[in-house]
Amino acid sequence: MNIEEEKLSEIEAQLFCPKGEKGIEMGEAMHATNIGMTLAAINALEIYDECNILEIGHGNGKHVGNLMHEANGLRYFGIDISESMHNEAIKNALPFKDQVSFCLYNGVNMPFEANFFNKIFTVNTVYFWKNPQEFLEEVYRVLKPGGHFSISFADKTFMQQLPFVKELFALYSADDMEVLALGSPFKLLKIDQKEEKVTSKAGEEITRIYHVALLGK
Ligand SMILES: C[S@@+](CC[C@H](N)C(=O)[O-])C[C@H]1O[C@@H](n2cnc3c(N)ncnc32)[C@H](O)[C@@H]1O
Repeated sequence: MNIEEEKLSEIEAQLFCPKGEKGIEMGEAMHATNIGMTLAAINALEIYDECNILEIGHGNGKHVGNLMHEANGLRYFGIDISESMHNEAIKNALPFKDQVSFCLYNGVNMPFEANFFNKIFTVNTVYFWKNPQEFLEEVYRVLKPGGHFSISFADKTFMQQLPFVKELFALYSADDMEVLALGSPFKLLKIDQKEEKVTSKAGEEITRIYHVALLGK
C-alpha cells in the first residue's frame, strides 16, 4: 500500500470507529458536515413531550442540544462503539446531563429492555452494520409498538465517488434500503430523498444526495 492509500484507509477506519486525537478531529469534521442529515433524521421522527429517544452512533454529540429543544421532558440515550466518541459526547452534552445517558456497546446487542423507546434514529451508520437484518431486529426489539425509527444515509452513487470509501462500507441506494426494510419486521413508512451542498475534503463544494428512511413498529 502506498502512502496515499494508507491515508485513505486511515480516514475510512476513523469514520467507522473514531480513535484518539485524530478520531476527535474526525468527530468535529463529521459534526460540521453531517448536521443537516442529523436534523433531517430528527425532524422525521415528529418528537413530542416525554419521549424516550435512542440515537445509534452519535459521534461527538454536539447536536444533542438541538434535539433537547424539540419538546419538553425528553430522555436521550446514545450508544456508540467508539470510546473516543463516547467520551466526547459526554463532554459536549454536559448542559443536558440530567436528561441524557451514553453507553459504549459492542455494535450488536443493545443494552436496553424490550419496548423501551418511542423514537430511535441513526445517521451515517448503516454502512457499518455487520448483519443488517439482525441489526434491524435488535432495533425493533427495543422500540415501543407505535414507535418510529429514522435512518439517514448518503446515497450509494454519491458515496462511490469518495476515494476513502472502500471495504469497510456497505452502500445503499433508496431501493436497497427498501429491500432491507421490507425484509425486516418493520413497516416501511417512507424514504425521502434530499440533497445539500457540502465541502469535500479537497475543499470544493459538492452536492450530496441522501435519504431519510422512516420505519414504524
Ligand atoms: C460516520 S460516523 C457518523 C457520526 C454521526 N452520526 C454523523 O453522522 O456525523 C459513524 C459513527 O457510528 C459509530 N458506529 C459504527 N458502527 C456502529 C454500530 N454498529 N453501532 C453504533 N455505532 C456505530 C462510529 O463509532 C461513529 O461514531
